[in-house]
Amino acid sequence: MEIEEPCISEYTFGKFAKLIYSEIGIYLPVHKKIMLEGRIKKRMRKLLIDSYEKYFNYVLESNDERIEFYNVVSTNKTEFFRENQHFDIIIKNLPEIIKINEKNDKKLSIWSSASSSGEEAYSILITLMEHFDILKTWKLKIIASDISTAMLEQGKIGEYSDYKIENIDKYYLEKYFSKLGENKFKIRENLKKYVIFKRINLKDQSYPFKGTFEIIFCRNILIYFDYNTKLNVLKNIIKYLKHNGILVLGTMEPLSYELERELGLKKIDSTVYKKII
Ligand SMILES: C[S@@+](CC[C@H](N)C(=O)[O-])C[C@H]1O[C@@H](n2cnc3c(N)ncnc32)[C@H](O)[C@@H]1O
Repeated sequence: MEIEEPCISEYTFGKFAKLIYSEIGIYLPVHKKIMLEGRIKKRMRKLLIDSYEKYFNYVLESNDERIEFYNVVSTNKTEFFRENQHFDIIIKNLPEIIKINEKNDKKLSIWSSASSSGEEAYSILITLMEHFDILKTWKLKIIASDISTAMLEQGKIGEYSDYKIENIDKYYLEKYFSKLGENKFKIRENLKKYVIFKRINLKDQSYPFKGTFEIIFCRNILIYFDYNTKLNVLKNIIKYLKHNGILVLGTMEPLSYELERELGLKKIDSTVYKKII
């Protein structure tokens, strides 16, 4: 099927950009027009929709299509042990948390809040399994959330191949993954029970949790938000962080000292903060 217009008009791009911004908080500058066009074309061909304007109206009408639309517009780049220093920071700071919770409920909850296809959550899990044997007897839970249902599905399946496994130590591959084929591995079934995948829009005013987390990862997502959205998302996330809990942001997403204070955080390492209120 041929798409009627060769490219998306600035007017229609503006409508898509406004919708994306208001619903998921991502700011799409006009130079991303070609990128957006490429990504939604596939969807339009599949649905036999021949104009961008018609597709926009369909996205507005259909809740299911909106979910698909956010699947194609989100940038999901991630990798195992990305920004590796953050996993060392967990190893360094977790003993203090374990000491406190050992006397209480023997529970540890961690949230990977823009988890893409699960690599971040599984890297956290592998770090815990490797360095904190005691947690195997605890109630350990890692929530892996994202806006993209396609990414969450990949995470749930837990199969990774080729370039996706390049960063994983061979020792970890053998210990925490099952080999499915040449260059294809799957997270071991007995580990999957610790990770719960859930669709959560960080732009929402509250999140579907009853309890709070000892550690929250929110990495490589704030850079896509403008200042106000970033501030709101951080304020909301922090509500779900325990006192003395740890917030890990991407290395390109440091907070200014003023913002750190406004949010009741104290920097304990590069782009890693402790909640002090
Ligand atoms: C670049 S990836 C980062 C993945 C991982 N945290 C990392 O650092 O490797 C950003 C992820 O944020 C997700 N995302 C975008 N907007 C979101 C929103 N409003 N709420 C939740 N997730 C969102 C995207 O679907 C994408 O998977």
